[in-house]
Amino acid sequence: MAKKLFVKTYGCQMNVYDSERMHGVMAAEGYEPTDRAEEADLILLNTCHIREKAAEKVYSELGRLKPLKEARPDLKIGVAGCVAQAEGEEILRRQPAVDFAVGPQAYHRLPALVANGGVDTEFPLEDKFLRMPAAPRRRAPTAFLTVQEGCDKFCAFCVVPYTRGAEVSRPAARLLGEARALAEQGVREITLLGQNVNAYHGEGPDGGDWTLARLLREIAGIEGIERLRYTTSHPNDMSDDLIAAHGELEKLMPYLHLPVQSGSDRVLKAMNRRHRADDYLALIERIRAARPDIALSGDFIVGFPGETEAEFAQTLALAEAVGYGSAFTFKYSSRPGTPAAGVGEQVPEPVKDERLARLNAVISRDQKAFQTSMVGRRLPVLVEKAGRLDGQMVGKSPWLHAVHFLAPAETAGQVVMVDVVESGPNSLSGRLAA
Ligand code: SAH
Ligand code: SF4
Ligand code: F3S
Repeated sequence: MAKKLFVKTYGCQMNVYDSERMHGVMAAEGYEPTDRAEEADLILLNTCHIREKAAEKVYSELGRLKPLKEARPDLKIGVAGCVAQAEGEEILRRQPAVDFAVGPQAYHRLPALVANGGVDTEFPLEDKFLRMPAAPRRRAPTAFLTVQEGCDKFCAFCVVPYTRGAEVSRPAARLLGEARALAEQGVREITLLGQNVNAYHGEGPDGGDWTLARLLREIAGIEGIERLRYTTSHPNDMSDDLIAAHGELEKLMPYLHLPVQSGSDRVLKAMNRRHRADDYLALIERIRAARPDIALSGDFIVGFPGETEAEFAQTLALAEAVGYGSAFTFKYSSRPGTPAAGVGEQVPEPVKDERLARLNAVISRDQKAFQTSMVGRRLPVLVEKAGRLDGQMVGKSPWLHAVHFLAPAETAGQVVMVDVVESGPNSLSGRLAA
């Protein structure tokens, strides 16, 4: 009987992609996926270290898994991802039920770790994905594709440059091959991923350096691929050719995630973001000029050390000025080993809570208004799967709104036109257009 692998994924989309690829590696070793930890022979937690809460989740999950291991000592438990990279040895010390820890750049060595245990947090020079068998066949019409990993930006609050290592772009020919294979499996939408995806500069098939814009243009030419997205970007890497691509590539969806973190120049400087608030606003103007219907999304941190009420007010003003289609907001979490940790005056927790609530009020008001503005419009929807109600299907608008409507099951994987009738708390509903 085949052995079974259970993977639980935390954190960003890059971890989601990595988890799929780890299934590929272990499939070659005779492991089938399962979604029940109780029946697994191997359990992998693919973890996130970005905020303290994210990292703590791992230890509580391991505590819950411990009885499984006690009942079946041959069960293997491994910790992968960014917590493994940051605290590999410590995890094995703190939780003896764990057999091994593996950092994000060492997944091609999973089989050896499963067999022998230990900690592998090396940063090898070669592309790990080259030595990982392809992910198992996909059924969903949407897929992630990691094109770039790591980060050289060293924002003062962030662990990513330490957990993922230096910025590395995968060669374009390999990515085009993967994109073609995805299209053949029925994938219609690909989201290109990277911690700094718009800094992509991979080796082209012709030997030259390819930018993200070039890569997007080439993938857009692949038959079957109807939609492209990319995430996440740094404002300083929004080059002219990438902005132009938003105006020229019909398949590039009019939705851009462009984190800004703060609206205060003093805080931006302390964060080492290397741009001012005005630079960001001017950039948004240029992007909107290229693609007027683009919706913006962002990331914000409130309560960075030393953030004053006046500085926070500038963040609110920036959010108001942009009018985000959606955004993610976080309370600053001090991360060991980062430059901001332990420097400057910590903002008290209740103040962070209060600022977060005020920022969220602005963001959710704009998000709601944007979603409601879809009512009465006819939108192209990529149908993903059956909805909860009988005969209902659910898909995504170009702006990533979930859209529910009645339609035949065969529409899954197609782009259909839907007349939007209503805007609910988290999704739109409508009618399939004739
Ligand atoms: N590479 C991405 C960010 C990855 S982390 C980028 O630069 O856009 C995703 C988000 O988590 C960040 O944009 C930031 O808003 C938030 N974040 C990162 N470190 C954090 C910390 N120490 N405390 C709170 N939020 C943090
Ligand atoms: Fe972290 Fe900054 Fe790099 Fe994004 S750009 S991953 S926030 S260091
Ligand atoms: Fe988390 Fe690592 Fe992604 S820290 S956000 S899983 S890069």
